Amino acid sequence: MGSSSGHTRIGIVGCGNVGSTAAYSLLLQGTGSELVLVDHDPRLAEAQRTDLLHATPFSHPMRIEAGSWEALAGCSLVILAAGVGQQPGETRMQLLSRNAAVFADIIPQVMRHAADPILLVATNPLDVMTQVATRLSGLPPARVLGSGTMLDTARFRSLLARHFEVSPSSVHASVLGEHGDSEVLVWSGAQIAGLPLAEFADARGRPLTPRTMAEIDEGVRRAAYQIIEGKGYTCYGIGAALARLARCIVHDERAVLTACALAPEVEGIRDVALSLPLVIGRDGLQMRLMPALDAGESEALRASAQVIKDVVSSLGY
Ligand code: LAC
Repeated sequence: MGSSSGHTRIGIVGCGNVGSTAAYSLLLQGTGSELVLVDHDPRLAEAQRTDLLHATPFSHPMRIEAGSWEALAGCSLVILAAGVGQQPGETRMQLLSRNAAVFADIIPQVMRHAADPILLVATNPLDVMTQVATRLSGLPPARVLGSGTMLDTARFRSLLARHFEVSPSSVHASVLGEHGDSEVLVWSGAQIAGLPLAEFADARGRPLTPRTMAEIDEGVRRAAYQIIEGKGYTCYGIGAALARLARCIVHDERAVLTACALAPEVEGIRDVALSLPLVIGRDGLQMRLMPALDAGESEALRASAQVIKDVVSSLGY
């Protein structure tokens, strides 16, 4: 991944709300030295390029190109953000047939022109599309990563942080499984300052009642639906999550992120792509972790894996 000179060329396929916000996030955090924007609408790619270029004097120097598939040559990281997004009230799974067709079209092109890339998947239904991208690209699963529940984990941590009036960076809590309705909030392992939530709640004098837990669960699980009702799409959370994932790879951070990758077996379900805590570095997935779960969480994770497995099977993958 990348090169010893620190020169990293990142491709983004799909320059709509998610792809362009991921590009902007990469620019602001200074990840990568070259950005290549590809879209089925070349005018959109060119307009995003020009707009982003005007941000470079305020952020980090970065060469930004817009082009067709050939422009992906030399890209060691390619973000796949192409496809349709949820309409108000639509589930992520309802996007499947349209977006699977998009991936069948674009992934052969990406693999023809990019240089043995790591693929970062953003397109929904995320977990199924990560598995589809793994199969279509022929890359090892370690090199096809989806944003997965990184975004849901961020939502979980931010709502816990708001309840306890602490910084989100001090909250250690994870969401696992599907980036979708069956996702699993791991309450049992959540900690702040090394204290289990119940102990921190006592120390902070901010009780974590069943009602509060239900409100936080709803706030995480329904976040996208609520945002889409108001503005028609989501972009900032997912864009920042993609940039975080890219930074982890480009700088070989070996951070633990709840990203999505095809796993040989999860809770008895074989060959399924979903989110677990992953150690991620310059070559993608380095190590998959299975956190301690209580009986309810373990069953919910198995059910989540089954939801994804059933949909993938219906596609014939
Ligand atoms: C969301 C979209 C990215 O959860 O699935 O905001």
